[in-house]
Amino acid sequence: MNFAGHVAHLNIPDDLLAYKDVIAKVIYDKNHPRIQTVVNKVGAISNEFRVPQFEILAGKKDMVTEVKQYGATFRLDYGLVYWNSRLEHEHIRLVSLFKKGDVICDMFAGIGPFSIPAGQKGCVVYANDLNPDSILYLKTNAKINKVEDYIFTYNMDARVFMQSLMAVPDPETKSKCQFVAANCCSEEMVSGNEHSTSNENQNDVQESFDGSSMVNTSAKRRQETSNEGDVACQEDANQTKKRNNKKVKSSGPLPVKPWEHIDHVLMNLPASALQFLDCFDGLVHKRYWKGSLPWIHCYCFIRSSESEESILCEAQNKLNAKIAEPIFHRVRDVAPNKAMFCLSFRLPVECLKEETEDHIRSVDG
Ligand SMILES: C[S@@+](CC[C@H](N)C(=O)[O-])C[C@H]1O[C@@H](n2cnc3c(N)ncnc32)[C@H](O)[C@@H]1O
Repeated sequence: MNFAGHVAHLNIPDDLLAYKDVIAKVIYDKNHPRIQTVVNKVGAISNEFRVPQFEILAGKKDMVTEVKQYGATFRLDYGLVYWNSRLEHEHIRLVSLFKKGDVICDMFAGIGPFSIPAGQKGCVVYANDLNPDSILYLKTNAKINKVEDYIFTYNMDARVFMQSLMAVPDPETKSKCQFVAANCCSEEMVSGNEHSTSNENQNDVQESFDGSSMVNTSAKRRQETSNEGDVACQEDANQTKKRNNKKVKSSGPLPVKPWEHIDHVLMNLPASALQFLDCFDGLVHKRYWKGSLPWIHCYCFIRSSESEESILCEAQNKLNAKIAEPIFHRVRDVAPNKAMFCLSFRLPVECLKEETEDHIRSVDG
């Protein structure tokens, strides 16, 4: 059984379906008023938004609820968006690796369980999801948690999102930059992106989520010491970070240009995130990039017939590059022969795009 706010979610096996109403009534009576709706999952999840079909067995029909995780509040419609309370520790673990001022790119953001606490920590977050309802709730949650200045939301396919975000704007037409803004879901987002090319200030961010005690120390140490992902810089990365962390009086974080620097990319779509890794081949322009290459956190399932080596091989094939020092973190067992993992690695230097002379001339005028 899963709980999400006032909703209790059952997965009643076939042999007990004849008793489903009795089971639901017992759960309802024993847990009311905390639980006000009891639902049962019907069939396997087949839609791309990863939202199950439910039948309501007891209580009110309203599935709009609120969940609290590590000091953040999440409003959601359990019947319309993806939510899994069992991922709370994973959300905390990953966000604890981020530092204030980091630039985060959440390709499959859902209603924001990574993005919102990252914003609370003072990170600039580009958050995308294909499900328009997820984006509506993500924006609501950004407001509830007072981090709307830190989170730019997008509603599109993750590949298109990454390509749009990383496209270097043409100085004459600014067409690519506007394409990203035009696909945003709210006025704040459009103005957020405009703001991001003009405002030179950084907000004084109050840290409301301190995950320092939970930091995965080996990953953090590697993050701090590894130079392997570094590329030739036009500007010293430390200077960028110092500028990002500068405290001045204004609203909102320091604007960033994602095609110049991103710290972490999150890919929490375990059923198929590995397939999306090909979008990184040639995505980052070597000429414009500043500082270390981003950490990619790609979620996947590993079945008993597979191994970390076979998953790594699949990831490298998709990236078209060798991954140095991959880190596999076991998130949770989802079935007797299947576990969810997070594969973290620095984007390999071979994925960088070398500009042709023609391109450089056209962009630089
Ligand atoms: C497993 S959920 C993860 C959501 C959130 N990150 C979390 O931890 O709860 C995957 C999300 O990816 C979204 N999604 C599925 N296919 C997508 C695509 N091609 N592009 C962007 N988002 C997609 C779904 O709508 C869903 O919200």
